[in-house]
Amino acid sequence: MQDLFKNLNKENLIKILKDNSLNQELFNYANKIRKDNVGNEVHLRALIEISNICKNNCLYCGIRRDNENIIRYKMLPQEILDTAKTAINSGYKTIVLQSGESNCYSTEEFLEIIKEIKKYDVAITLSLGEKSFEEYQSLKIAGADRFLLRIETTDKKLYKQMHPNMDLQNRINCLKNLKKLGYELGTGCIVGLLNQSIDSLADDILFFKEIEADMIGVGPFIPTKNTPLENASSNNFELSLKVMALTRILLPKINIPATTAMESLHKNGKILALNSGANVLMLNVNDFKYKQNYKIYNNKILNENSIMDERNSVIQKLHEINRSICNDKGNSKTKKDT
Ligand code: 5AD
Repeated sequence: MQDLFKNLNKENLIKILKDNSLNQELFNYANKIRKDNVGNEVHLRALIEISNICKNNCLYCGIRRDNENIIRYKMLPQEILDTAKTAINSGYKTIVLQSGESNCYSTEEFLEIIKEIKKYDVAITLSLGEKSFEEYQSLKIAGADRFLLRIETTDKKLYKQMHPNMDLQNRINCLKNLKKLGYELGTGCIVGLLNQSIDSLADDILFFKEIEADMIGVGPFIPTKNTPLENASSNNFELSLKVMALTRILLPKINIPATTAMESLHKNGKILALNSGANVLMLNVNDFKYKQNYKIYNNKILNENSIMDERNSVIQKLHEINRSICNDKGNSKTKKDT
């Protein structure tokens, strides 16, 4: 069976994705590849969801423009800095700033926030959506290290259906620009979207390699209230774990988070992901008042723990599965190969 896993061309990817009798073997093999290539350390990232304002109208997403049932917010730059400082004091070495796609912060505001956070010895990951080459460039010069922009799906027709007014090619161009600018590049896909084929998931995995991603986030689709897909079916946990495991095998050195969406569909989702190829956890460090309004999807796990308590409880759980915490910035190991 390992021969099949060692030759991940499109045909074999499809075969493995369709054949559930191979699942446990696949997860074990991906776990071994993870251990051999990126080791037993888990990278913890502090995620700050700075705003849920969004101009896009993605059919699956709870913060889509047309959802009038959530309270929109924009954190003040000072609040972002205060949250980042608390996270840094609690031991985090990477700060992730994520928002919906909007222009509610000016580039100048971002530059100021990035420069302030970079006074500390930490990495900054941005997840702010599609921007111009020049904007990405000035954010990079200000000190941003990494950028997350999921392609969501590489299936042209499905992309159009799911993302009215958006363009797949534009998103690919954004990813290429980010790569050109020297960001560590993060992308990924949603698994289980209405009308998504196994064939297109194989294409997604091959795309991750082609774009030379340094990080890949894969999560199951979760039907979400007040969206056009609220009544769609949601049984995608295993399939998303398989896409993630195959990504690990194809790209042995990259960083792969155990995603929150996995935990939302399965009560042990993150641990299962960490044992099937993942080596990163992104922990939400926002105040509860913001967390509860960043409802990308239903059942998003929310808690009111302090940043320090949450971090310590996660470290405890990781020890139980014999995994340790990485104490440096946790850059992707992809660069060292070249
Ligand atoms: N189910 C699963 N993932 C979702 N995302 C947005 N909405 C959903 C949903 N309903 C994911 C997208 C986005 C990331 C921040 O959250 O992939 O890039």
